[in-house]
Amino acid sequence: MESLFYSNGKPYFTIGGQVHNSSSCTEDNLKNGWKAAEKLGLNTIAIPVYWRLLEAEEGKFDFTQVDMVLNGAREHNLKLVILWFATWKNGASQYVPNWVKLQKDRFVWAETVQHNLTMTLSPHCENTREADKKAFCKLMEHLKEQHAEDVLLGIQVENEPGNLGTPRDYSETGEKVYRGQVPEKIVKWLSETDDCEVKRIWEANGAPTTGDWETFFGKVHAAEICSAYGVSTYINEVSRAGKEIFNVPTYVNVWLGEMYNRVAGVDVPSGGATSRVIEMWKFLSPDIDGLCPDVYFNDALNHLDICRKYSIKNNPLYIPESGANTFNALNVLRAVAYHGLTGIHCFGIDSLLDANGDLKPQAEEYRHMVTILREMKPLIEKYHGTGKLYAVAQAEGESSQYFDFGDFVGRAIDFMANGDLHSDPDHGNMDKDHRDSSIFQVRAKGLIVYIGNGEFYLAGEGFRLNLIRQDTIEGMSSGVRASSFQNGRHQRYLDLEEGHFDEEGRFIVNKIRTGDECDTGLWVHSDVGVLHARLEV
Ligand code: DGJ
Repeated sequence: MESLFYSNGKPYFTIGGQVHNSSSCTEDNLKNGWKAAEKLGLNTIAIPVYWRLLEAEEGKFDFTQVDMVLNGAREHNLKLVILWFATWKNGASQYVPNWVKLQKDRFVWAETVQHNLTMTLSPHCENTREADKKAFCKLMEHLKEQHAEDVLLGIQVENEPGNLGTPRDYSETGEKVYRGQVPEKIVKWLSETDDCEVKRIWEANGAPTTGDWETFFGKVHAAEICSAYGVSTYINEVSRAGKEIFNVPTYVNVWLGEMYNRVAGVDVPSGGATSRVIEMWKFLSPDIDGLCPDVYFNDALNHLDICRKYSIKNNPLYIPESGANTFNALNVLRAVAYHGLTGIHCFGIDSLLDANGDLKPQAEEYRHMVTILREMKPLIEKYHGTGKLYAVAQAEGESSQYFDFGDFVGRAIDFMANGDLHSDPDHGNMDKDHRDSSIFQVRAKGLIVYIGNGEFYLAGEGFRLNLIRQDTIEGMSSGVRASSFQNGRHQRYLDLEEGHFDEEGRFIVNKIRTGDECDTGLWVHSDVGVLHARLEV
């Protein structure tokens, strides 16, 4: 399975968080970001650098902010993702230098249909693109000189790009593109590409091969598709030029098209890599490694929908922004196991601390999920996309989860929080350090890896796993195998041990479970690390 980020040439599963937009303006403002990363146990931090600080005066470059971020990551032993806040930040252009803001004839702003200026620069203006590109290249040159590859995993180019306030740019510059011929490379792509939404829209308009954007895509969708062409080619050019200097992975994050009433330019910046246009965007941005959804949906169905739409060919699934809450924790585990998620970042980590600098209670289960991911990281990187990863993620009201592992079936049981309170009332025996029933008052969550041949690794909290070997129906249905109580006492363990993975990926045993500690199934907790079980087959 491909990854978006790599470290020393190997896939790197990033478990990170992003600081608030204004936090990197000074060292002092950034303090809580570093602290929160530590409290959450993250391995990566994502921090914006602003074009307006980098090049406050045209042609003069100041790397103070970049150095602060780079050195901070090194000091705090964190991997780093730099966010290039430049032409676009959430469909607006706040982060451009004042000399860009003030030269309206040189740098074209997108206009509404009534010819009012929006807060967004036009994606079709070459002067703006060249100015952004020049500054980005300076950033890349500097990062290269600083040998940033020791900590830098990648760069987000722009932030949630597109026009907000208008579905397309109605300025003279924008009109010229919109009323002009659809470029030949798009015509060719349309006829050759597999089925996708842009192709379907084109077909519904009679699949023309010459004409302007409206001829190709009709009156409803042409504006978004034309804007997507402008934005994707613009950012690709910025990324291409930057990578020529310093070749690190780049990605573009996406304000989802599925938000609110879903109207491009109103509810969503028009021209970003929404699911409607993602395949075309991918085609037009060969120098960008990932088109990555910012997913703030907490419910499992919407989350799943977005994971499916963004795990398309050559697009490693990475979520650059999300919420640090229990629901997201569950969604993340599912996405890791079933959608090949290659990294997860939550947003606004510096506001997750209270006045004493402690993590707020609402982020506690997210922190546990971070611990689970960190413990399992070497296995996630190794078994991504192989079908050997399984997630325990307790949905509302769910009391257990069934798994078919092939030569074993398993059931994660003893779900307590909002689940079935009729399961084993004393939660089974755990060990001397885990006898408090409050440890079950969490959503059951975790990851299971079944390597095969009776060998399991798992980490999680709020459940235990009971296994039944799939041999004969008589064996599977016998009393001692089917009851949870008897099941725990009839497992043929060869090894059952708690441990962790070291730097080289070797499993180091911390404790061997025997007797009472193994009689009630494979119980987990977020502070016991990884459980390794080898059973007779
Ligand atoms: C999405 C943006 O990309 C972030 O920079 C930030 O503004 C968040 N929204 C706020 O929720």
